[in-house]
Amino acid sequence: KRPAGAPDKALARKVTKVGVIGAGLMASQFALLFARRLKVPVLITDLDQARVDAGVERIRGEIQKLADRGRVNPDEANRLRATISGTTDLADYANCDWVIEAVFEDLGVKRQVFANVEPHLSPEAVLATNTSSLSVDDIGAELAHPERLVGFHFFNPVAVMPLVEVVNASKTDEATLSTAMVVAKNLRKNAVITKDAPGFVVNRVLAKVLGEAMHAVDTGTPFEVVDHALDPFGLPMTPFELLDLVGLQVGAHVLDTHHAAFPDRFFDSANLHALADAGVLLDKDDKGAVKGFDKRALAIVKK
Ligand code: 3HC
Repeated sequence: KRPAGAPDKALARKVTKVGVIGAGLMASQFALLFARRLKVPVLITDLDQARVDAGVERIRGEIQKLADRGRVNPDEANRLRATISGTTDLADYANCDWVIEAVFEDLGVKRQVFANVEPHLSPEAVLATNTSSLSVDDIGAELAHPERLVGFHFFNPVAVMPLVEVVNASKTDEATLSTAMVVAKNLRKNAVITKDAPGFVVNRVLAKVLGEAMHAVDTGTPFEVVDHALDPFGLPMTPFELLDLVGLQVGAHVLDTHHAAFPDRFFDSANLHALADAGVLLDKDDKGAVKGFDKRALAIVKK
């Protein structure tokens, strides 16, 4: 007997070619993961050739790191290099049966990328969004086939974090959900099916933690004090290291989404927006080790 809510595996569609939309940090990380684990061709695209080239370069750098550390052998490294290619022409996505986006967290932008790619795809192709907190229903509202859209939310760093949230939007059909679960399993991720609610599950909790930490700073407790106050919990990163990892813009957006949905439960932080605009928080050495808070970040919050 199937566990309640689990889709029928027999309905899962075969994925023979992956299309990634967005060639930024997150998209590059999962493009490589798809190539490694599904062993199918992976296409990436972005707004212009320069961004596509930068994404391909970033992926090649990661392949080299894997090869240098002996995590992939030379043949596998070559296979990966040959498997992932960049394009600016969405017509190249025609044979993709799994298309996933990780573009800027803006509803209009996400709708537009799907509107651009959908006419090139077969009606059976699955569309997935890696949105961190936008509504999957809203993203799919203008699709010709909203039943093939599913949320597929990875966590940073993609290669290491074991979880994927599979967001079952109100129109997602069982074949799409089933495909997403099988894809997650083949990526060797633990998948949980969540409702299409602000922040799904993980970012709802994260917004609470980071929002409270930021609010403590906003109301006068120094950054360093707040950052180490959670040490007793033994988390792998302090709250502000985590904020730095997810990115200040993404973090501010996640907090905004939650504040808009539940104004009595989540804070709005003008300081977080100012930090995100300035792009500063932690001071790190060349190897990425944290030395402390950036002086400019401390000055922004003091104001
Ligand atoms: N890319 C690829 N691999 C990475 C990596 C990266 N960016 N960062 C670390 N790794 C790998 C290392 O290579 C190492 O692999 P190995 O064991 O095969 O050599 C392994 O991860 C452990 O790394 P380290 O020993 O260097 O470092 P730590 O033990 O300090 O662990 C960490 C690093 C796994 C990132 C840990 O600090 C951690 O779990 N942090 C919390 C991360 C987290 O909570 N992420 C979720 C953020 S929320 C989100 O992304 C959602 C979004 O919508 C906002």
